[in-house]
Amino acid sequence: MELLDGKKAATKVQEDIAKEVAYLKEKGHRAPHLVAILVGQNGASMTYVNNKVTACERVGFASSVVNLPESVTQEELLGEIQKLNQDTTIDGFIVQLPLPKHIKEQEVLLAINPDKDADGFHPTNFGRMALGLEAFIPATPYGILELLSQYQIPTDGKNVVVIGRSDIVGRPISILLSQKPWNATVTLTHSRTQNLAALTQKADIIIAALGSPNFLKAEMIKEGAVIIDVGITRVADPSTKKGFRIVGDVDFENVKEKASYITPVPGGVGPMTIAMLMKNTLNAYKRTHKIQ
Ligand code: GUN
Repeated sequence: MELLDGKKAATKVQEDIAKEVAYLKEKGHRAPHLVAILVGQNGASMTYVNNKVTACERVGFASSVVNLPESVTQEELLGEIQKLNQDTTIDGFIVQLPLPKHIKEQEVLLAINPDKDADGFHPTNFGRMALGLEAFIPATPYGILELLSQYQIPTDGKNVVVIGRSDIVGRPISILLSQKPWNATVTLTHSRTQNLAALTQKADIIIAALGSPNFLKAEMIKEGAVIIDVGITRVADPSTKKGFRIVGDVDFENVKEKASYITPVPGGVGPMTIAMLMKNTLNAYKRTHKIQ
């Protein structure tokens, strides 16, 4: 078994971005600028946004966070988005999800200028991605593709089973891997799938993205399968300083004995997501500055 080291792979992506940013600055250009809108005080969301800010610093981007209270109205949030859409000093921005229940998420994502949609969540980018056109690809699927590429894991003609049909991971990664140049045969499974184990047992690659700790067991996989764990559930653990630990969707300790490659949690897909958000931001910047 070999670990798919997301930290290492993400560092490589970020080093390449940092070099490009240093070069752009040398040429007299301003730094790319990413903004995150954070609504409320969700602990996990605050951590993710902090990680994104730190990554921006590492690659030489400017970054800002727009903190809005949990009580923010739909109109106020849409107003903030319009400001960012119009601000020519901002290349890309994200609205950290989940949003409070009273906010209509789809309306919010629709309001984002697709050219600044660093998360690739706008229907225009999703549609373009699905058609194989140039688009911002959601950072987690993009990170999975980059991880597979860095470890030279073949996908052509392989059986891939994706568990979980979310708009931001399961569905887009299933679409992407079915396309050229990945050419995989993809089965997208979900909570209504019957006899999931029969499908996963035939899979060359399994992408677990359902958000259920330790869901994928060793008996559900075949010998030599490649296992990508997207899960990041916080589970209470009084023995840790923070009072919780992050648990993936894969029963890592047992599955690792049978897998050929496996991502750890943390340190697998998570760092890749952040790195690819940086890549999307750089691409947004290059697009508006007409830099190749
Ligand atoms: N919440 C969980 N994952 C993500 C992500 O990739 N982007 C945003 N904006 N929110 C998230």
